[in-house]
Amino acid sequence: MTIIFNKAESLFHLQMEKTSYVIKLYDHAYLMHVYWGKKIRAHNVGWFCETPYRRRQLIEGRKVDDVKFTSEYWPFEYPSYGTSDFRPPAVKAGSENGTMITDLRYVKHRILKGKPLIDALPSTYVENENEAETLEIELYDSLIGLSVFLYYTVYNTFDVITRHAVFANKGTQSLTLHKALSASIDFKDGHFEMLQLSGTTLRERHVVKRKLAEGLMQIDSTRGISSHIHNPFIALLRDGATEHMGEVYGLSLVYSGNFVASAHVDQYFSARVQIGINPFNFLWVLEPGKTFSTPEAVMVYSDEGLNGLSHKYHDLYRKRLCRGIYRDRVRPVLVNNWEATYFDFDHDKIISMAKKAKESGIELFVLDDGWFGSRNNDQSSLGDWHENTCKLPKGLKGLADEINALGLKFGLWFEPEAVSPDSELYRKHPDWCISVPGRKRTEWRNQLVLDLARKEVCDYIIHSVATVLNSANIEYVKWDMNRRLTEMASASLPPERQMEFSHRYILGLYNVLEELTSRFPNVLFENCASGGGRFDPGMLYYFPQTWTSDNTDAVCRLKIQYGTSICYPLIATCAHVSAIPNHQVLRSTPMKMRGPVAMSGNMGYELDLTNLTEYESNEVMEQVALYKEMRSLVQFGRFYRLKSPFDGNQTAWMVVSDDKREFVVWFFRVMVEAEEAYFNLRLAGIDAELDYICLDNGMVYSGDALLNMGLTLPWQNGDHMSLMMRFSAV
Ligand code: DGJ
Repeated sequence: MTIIFNKAESLFHLQMEKTSYVIKLYDHAYLMHVYWGKKIRAHNVGWFCETPYRRRQLIEGRKVDDVKFTSEYWPFEYPSYGTSDFRPPAVKAGSENGTMITDLRYVKHRILKGKPLIDALPSTYVENENEAETLEIELYDSLIGLSVFLYYTVYNTFDVITRHAVFANKGTQSLTLHKALSASIDFKDGHFEMLQLSGTTLRERHVVKRKLAEGLMQIDSTRGISSHIHNPFIALLRDGATEHMGEVYGLSLVYSGNFVASAHVDQYFSARVQIGINPFNFLWVLEPGKTFSTPEAVMVYSDEGLNGLSHKYHDLYRKRLCRGIYRDRVRPVLVNNWEATYFDFDHDKIISMAKKAKESGIELFVLDDGWFGSRNNDQSSLGDWHENTCKLPKGLKGLADEINALGLKFGLWFEPEAVSPDSELYRKHPDWCISVPGRKRTEWRNQLVLDLARKEVCDYIIHSVATVLNSANIEYVKWDMNRRLTEMASASLPPERQMEFSHRYILGLYNVLEELTSRFPNVLFENCASGGGRFDPGMLYYFPQTWTSDNTDAVCRLKIQYGTSICYPLIATCAHVSAIPNHQVLRSTPMKMRGPVAMSGNMGYELDLTNLTEYESNEVMEQVALYKEMRSLVQFGRFYRLKSPFDGNQTAWMVVSDDKREFVVWFFRVMVEAEEAYFNLRLAGIDAELDYICLDNGMVYSGDALLNMGLTLPWQNGDHMSLMMRFSAV
């Protein structure tokens, strides 16, 4: 890894293990994008961005100060609007005269060791400064006094580029930021398919692909959370790119609020691809002397298809985005009582379930919603974080102690950002929720959202959660959030700053999470937002795992987990075995399918273990024992998607250990046919030179045969919807 400034050609060349990213300083003024792709040599490449001279009509000015110079045809590194580039800008800044034109010129640059943290925002990090280098380039608009610092980091061991921008008002007038994106890339052509991870509650992160065409193609969130609807991630696929081959580009945003990711194709079929905070309903007042930081964009190029792209995201996010003691630890197998009891439980019921969990080999018991205030349904008590002594006469401490005495850890559910109108908290502080004076307060699941832009509200959340965590031996927290934000406004902000609210909410949330996760470093925090409504890299920085979806149906989970794996590692992807008929879609799937689907993630249970037949209880016991044997492989290995559930009836994926000596293959089919046609499932990522024994059938296979001939499937006729095979090198 290295960052080179080639003075003779005015080129910045960011070289990673397999990737190059090249920027040209044109006419000592503008930053032009030259190249992002497979690694190239560092010299004689600057001509690449100068194609406009040769191609386009009406180009007369070559010098940027020439009045005839037009920006329209140029590949800008961080484009602005108003001086003849009519494509979507990365920045829109307003000055006191009411105009919104910027002309950002190069001032200076530095190459720094390591990677600076981003003010008040989560980001990927280094553990020592030799792990990475950072290029800082300052651009300046001298008329309005606005500096923009662009940061690019490249790592030694991760083939990724991270980018963000910092705005500094160095002038004397107040400025307004209307758009301040994290990254913008001008590709010479737009011959791509855009891949997005879209869906809704219970159908999160489905893979959707669209071919780029002239105009704007965009996904975003305006809901105050990154959302179930679109994930803050897009990939661009060159023609013919598959899971295993071809060129793909990924942009992922380390952010949990309103975002935008887009691809714009202009009249010459050039593509401008961008990601950052959604400019919709966003406006930031930047007073003289103040700065504003954008979230971080993480950019990955792979010429080994989507699997290659995923490996780079998984490695970075697992090792240098997640933090804390659980980053490198296998995660406990848990049982959660939500689908087992919903609100209807008491101390004895929980203890009976915990006993059964212990017998099954489960390691952590999680008490979900309903343990606090007078909450017996979803109509009250959010905000009143003290135990309900009718349900739990021995209190949380009594319950946790008994569960610990059984040999299990104890974990607890919270929804700290929410408040029920029927709660002590609301009666005391009706003004603490997000609302616009005079307007109705939209309720969602009978609840409102606390105003995290206010310090006293954040302090209350920190204090109330910390008090509970100190009151008993609570070793895991499920942090839920079951709403979108509406009537977004804060009583703490003056009128001209109300459009800052959605970003300030996220800053408040990050501040709360930073405080609580550092005060309780031994607690395993799990992120949840009605399932996967905030499954994003911003939350991953604080919470090393996420409840992937409230949909626990094994068939639906194939698509949800497949899509999620494009950007996020398996260890972060919680997957539970639940009861049948499934509570969300009423489908019944065999335990032999529910188990393997959950085992291809961070596995747990979400059913009443005391309600199972002896046969089912034995199956659970066997599954837990098996998962414990293979979990370090699943949680820390390399994941390969082999067959997509979006392409038909069959799904296949596998995980390979780093040393390639162990692997597991999963194969699922939703509909089972008699006398089906055979096909060969070619494996990936294993060592062609090694022989492997299948631990499930005792047969020995050569690595090269598995890679080239593959496994002949379906394995057997009958009712098998799934097959899980473990292999070990002999
Ligand atoms: C939504 C979560 O996604 C569920 O797992 C559960 O915790 C409920 N909220 C509880 O209200």
